[in-house]
Amino acid sequence: TERTLSIIKPDATNRNLTGKINAKFEEAGLRIVAQKRIQLTKAQAGQFYAVHAERPFFDELTDFMASAPVVVQVLEGEGAIAKNREVMGATNPADAAPGTIRAEFAESVGENSVHGSDAPDTAAEEIAFFFSGLELVG
Ligand code: GTP
Ligand code: MG
Repeated sequence: TERTLSIIKPDATNRNLTGKINAKFEEAGLRIVAQKRIQLTKAQAGQFYAVHAERPFFDELTDFMASAPVVVQVLEGEGAIAKNREVMGATNPADAAPGTIRAEFAESVGENSVHGSDAPDTAAEEIAFFFSGLELVG
């Protein structure tokens, strides 16, 4: 089984969608093995999204991620990284398949409700960014 890092973003926590989004994960067979609600500083958001530092939307992205609490979580299951990205849907909600989280809940390409790791190496890095081993309860 595999683990991936998920973030329920400020647009979704603001609209009280944490439970509805978690239901999508659980219905897809993903187990929430760690979860906490935190508020990132802009600097921490920038550290997390460092790979996008040169992109034109970096400032907007880090302001948004620091604008309200987020729920960071570790999802576990067979093929969890790919399965989570399937449940999330495309980055731009206009392109997201029906039934996906972003198709149902995202407001725009920036305010797109969820983040999910994109590969095993980034999943391991992103999990370690937010959680200690003691917090992972499989
Ligand atoms: P993540 O799971 O969040 O990493 O999404 P992704 O892998 O589908 O998208 P990508 O890694 O390319 O971009 C990371 C995040 O940057 C996206 O989820 C968006 O929140 C944000 N983003 C991407 N493109 C734009 C854009 O054109 N404008 C704004 N404001 N944000 C963007
Ligand atoms: Mg990405």
